Amino acid sequence: MNKERFIFAPVTKQYTKYTLSRSSLQPNPLTQFNTWYSEAVKSGEPLAESCTLATASLPSGRVSARVVLFKELDNRGFIVYSNWQTSKKAMDVKSNPRAAITFFWKTLERQVRVEGLTEFVTPEESLAYFRTRPRESQIGAHASPQSQVVDSREELDQYVQDTREKFKDVEEIPLPEGWGGMRIVPDEIEFWQGRDNRVHDRFSYTRENEATEWKIVRLAP
Ligand SMILES: Cc1cc2nc3c(=O)[nH]c(=O)nc-3n(C[C@H](O)[C@H](O)[C@H](O)COP(=O)(O)O)c2cc1C
Repeated sequence: MNKERFIFAPVTKQYTKYTLSRSSLQPNPLTQFNTWYSEAVKSGEPLAESCTLATASLPSGRVSARVVLFKELDNRGFIVYSNWQTSKKAMDVKSNPRAAITFFWKTLERQVRVEGLTEFVTPEESLAYFRTRPRESQIGAHASPQSQVVDSREELDQYVQDTREKFKDVEEIPLPEGWGGMRIVPDEIEFWQGRDNRVHDRFSYTRENEATEWKIVRLAP
């Protein structure tokens, strides 16, 4: 094994911009998230809506993570859009409905971690979002067998061209089969505010299930 070290990132960064206290927290973590998300957008955070979605396949337990765009928050949870037919994440949630998403907002030195159970939104809800996408993105969603092996860029471009052709006389492109929104209904949400000397503020909201109250605890950094 080659022990040569190629990259060494020294610990130099201090987080000093904000603090987070128990008294400032809202009782419902979705409301708290809403506040932090708005602040992240206002702060000019590039792609504040990007988050890392982690899923795990059972029975192997193999975990995978990827960046996706968080699109909607409703009173049940966090909604992201993807291909739920051919992608790796689709296979994972089929075998294991638990997932996590993590946001990092560098500008505000904040992290939010969400864990919960996944459920699909209704086709009507998916269609409403699909309608807001530019036509070429709608075509892309139809054309791409996400996460399947393709032989070449040309093959992929051909799929797109064929799809454009297929819908050339269709004004409203239909929702692709298996494509749409997935909601993560949280049972744990943690808010992390970076502080100096690595003594960060962390508060975790947990609940047993949707019928029970949220409990808030402070966690050691
Ligand atoms: C900034 C960014 C945003 C992305 N947004 C999405 C998204 O909203 N939905 C999606 O399916 N993939 C999105 N992707 C691509 C995923 O990271 C990933 O490549 C894809 O979903 C296939 O993942 P899987 O094979 O693990 O299922 C995004 C990637 C980046 C870097």
